[in-house]
Parts: sequence; structure tokens; C-alpha cells
Amino acid sequence: MDGNGRWAQKRGLQRLLGHREGYRTLKKVLLAASDMGIGCLTAYGFSVENWRRPEAEVGGLMTLIEEAAKAELRDLKKNNVRCRVSGRLGEVPERTRNALQAMAVETASNTGIVFNLAINYGGRAEIVDAVKALVRGGVPEEEVTEELISRHMYSPDIPDPDLMIRTAGEMRWSNFLLWESAYTELYVTEKTWPEFDAQELQKAVDSFQSRTRKFGGVV
Ligand code: IPE
Ligand code: MG
Repeated sequence: MDGNGRWAQKRGLQRLLGHREGYRTLKKVLLAASDMGIGCLTAYGFSVENWRRPEAEVGGLMTLIEEAAKAELRDLKKNNVRCRVSGRLGEVPERTRNALQAMAVETASNTGIVFNLAINYGGRAEIVDAVKALVRGGVPEEEVTEELISRHMYSPDIPDPDLMIRTAGEMRWSNFLLWESAYTELYVTEKTWPEFDAQELQKAVDSFQSRTRKFGGVV
């Protein structure tokens, strides 16, 4: 969800106000995705690299995530959203972690769209964690397959993403879902995340639907 800072700076606002606006956008886009019949939406909220930001911004983001998880719980339940969290939650401040875990636990029996929030997430970190789990389990070399590695990722029950949307014109992966996005279609928009909306989501989906996916084969 890139471009919160640029959105704010352009308006002479503090970066954190950009993140607040990004939260509003996420809420709208999640409900739009649900209405469109999308099965799962993963949002990159905070990366393992984001700790490098100024302390005030990191703290502000952690507070915002905590507040949002608490404030949205009722509506998430009402809208039948099933929440999940991906990332190294053990390194996240306790209050934020607790709010995120409560959000996941209390929506676990919902049957609608899966909303997967990536917090303290890194694609390489996820692969490292999977390899560690395999080593810990003493898995013999001949049993190591792509399927087995996939099953040791943070959310093995969530399918690989069909479409990845990057906002604010960024054309890089930024360590997101590296393993899972092997055949993901990429969509880049110049809109910053706070400017993104249901209409922009529809544009991205339309683009996705016009593409031919061959997965390395021929049609
Ligand atoms: C949101 O946008 C990213 C996070 C939620 C950490 P940025 O904060 O990266 O916005 P820009 O890149 O400075 O515009
Ligand atoms: Mg950025």
C-alpha cells in the first residue's frame, strides 16, 4: 500500500496522516473486493524493513494498526470477513500483536472474503522461517519439494495470489510474497494508496481478466 507519505507531503500534511488516510482506503477497498466476489485480499501493512523508519513513524503505525484492528472488529464480523495475519508477530509490540490476534481469532468462523494483513512481513524472512521449520522437523532431503515448502509458509491454506497491485508507480517487489508470487500477474498504477478506490480496483481486475496466463506453457 505505497504512497501514503507522498500523498500527505503533497498536501502539506504529516506522513502519519497519510497512513490514516491509507487505513480508510483499505477499509473501502476490502469491502469492494468482497462485493466483487474476490476470495482473498492480502494487504502489505508493515514490512520487516519498515523498522528503519523514524521511531515516531514506526510507533504511529503500530498504534494505528492496533486502533484499526480494534475499531473495525465489529464491522469485519458484520461483513463476514475472515481475518488473518502474516509475519513475524513475535517482534511486534504486544498491544498491536494482541489486537491483531484478537481480530483473527474473533473472525475465524466467518465464511466471506479472507483478509490477510501482512505485518512485520518479509518474503525472505518467510522462506527462512519455512526452512527453519523443515530443519527442525528433520525432513530428509528427498522429501523436500515445492509443495512441502509451500505448506510451511505463513498461510499455507491461502492460495497463491492471482494479482498483485502496486500503487504509487513502484515497479519492484519490495520483498512481498516472494515464494507465492511466482506466477502472479502484476498491475502497477500511478495512484498513491490513499487515492486508490473501488473503481481503481475494478480497473486492475479488468486488466487481469484481459490477460492470458500460460504458467510457462502454451495456450
Ligand atoms: C505506506 O506508504 C507504506 C507503509 C504502510 C509502511 P509509504 O509510507 O511508503 O509512502 P511513501 O513511499 O513515503 O510515499
Ligand atoms: Mg513507500
